[in-house]
Amino acid sequence: MKSFASDNYSGIHPDILQAITEANQAHVSSYGNDPYTAKAEQLFKHLFGQETEVLFVFNGTGANITALQCATQSFHSILCSKTAHINVDECGALMKATGCQLHTVDTPDGKLTPDLLTPFLCDIGNIHHTQPRVISITQCTEVGTVYSLEELTRLCNFAHQNGLYVHLDGARIANALVTLDCNAKAATVDCGIDIMSFGGTKNGLMIGEAVLIFNENIAANAQFVRKQLGQLFSKMRFISAQFVALLENDLWLRMARHSNSMAQLLAREVSTIPHVKITQKVDANGVFALIPPAIVEPLQKEFPFYLWDEQTCEARWMCSFDTTEEEIRIFAKRIKELCAGIKA
Ligand SMILES: Cc1ncc(COP(=O)(O)O)c(C=O)c1O
Repeated sequence: MKSFASDNYSGIHPDILQAITEANQAHVSSYGNDPYTAKAEQLFKHLFGQETEVLFVFNGTGANITALQCATQSFHSILCSKTAHINVDECGALMKATGCQLHTVDTPDGKLTPDLLTPFLCDIGNIHHTQPRVISITQCTEVGTVYSLEELTRLCNFAHQNGLYVHLDGARIANALVTLDCNAKAATVDCGIDIMSFGGTKNGLMIGEAVLIFNENIAANAQFVRKQLGQLFSKMRFISAQFVALLENDLWLRMARHSNSMAQLLAREVSTIPHVKITQKVDANGVFALIPPAIVEPLQKEFPFYLWDEQTCEARWMCSFDTTEEEIRIFAKRIKELCAGIKA
């Protein structure tokens, strides 16, 4: 039985593994001066526009700190939701790397809005305060919701009017694009996103993410920033070859479409269980639900998953590219049985 703990509990998609094996031939130039990296960059430029600067990095934290260091100086501050991965799950890497202050914003659904952000901009120009420079959003959000194109555009316009950049943590961008049913450029560059972290590991890769820079003002020192942060892989071809396999033939979108549909199925299955209450819109590949405390331990023994909020007993169930319908049905059936046991 697979787990519902995270989409990085899953393994490597066979096509990705094969791409790594196929790249394991002969000698090629290191540090990205190789044909695999050139091809992967081409594919990204085709998706996001020819002006896009592409930097491959090792992991999501690395992508976020590289992206955000490119866009800031140490007297700046970065605004994000309280639930943002950069705030909660990166061990302060961002503050260490950039020296910036992080201002966190309470949100009901993981999404930032101009209204929620306005109070944080009142000290612009005041030399005694750090200066807001970047709004960092996550798409899909950490609670499985997806910003609409209108919400993205409104947020980017608001940021730019106030002299701020917008960074998008796209660890699960493929899942968002499938939901939005639009192309990658329309949901990022065309909305006004300046820089993004593009996820690979949560969508079938063994290792690797990418920083995509759309705003040339941010791009100037990006190569140096990546190197200083220890994110430049000498055997780059083994990250790039994975991205070629991921992006060619839309494998990334096919996988995301599958994991999203598994989350929809799970939501449908558990929504009929009286003790279970879904807490967030199921926009992507995660289901968040309040469950009875008594079922947590027995359920986790059989199917690993995390509690998102221990106080309220809110579970986070993530689906992966390799989650099957049968696994969902067995999981939901077990929840139903355990909940029925509580009643008795
Ligand atoms: C929203 C988000 N951003 C970034 C990451 C990447 O983190 P890591 O540094 O573990 O690859 C994750 C992983 O859980 C994530 O959920």
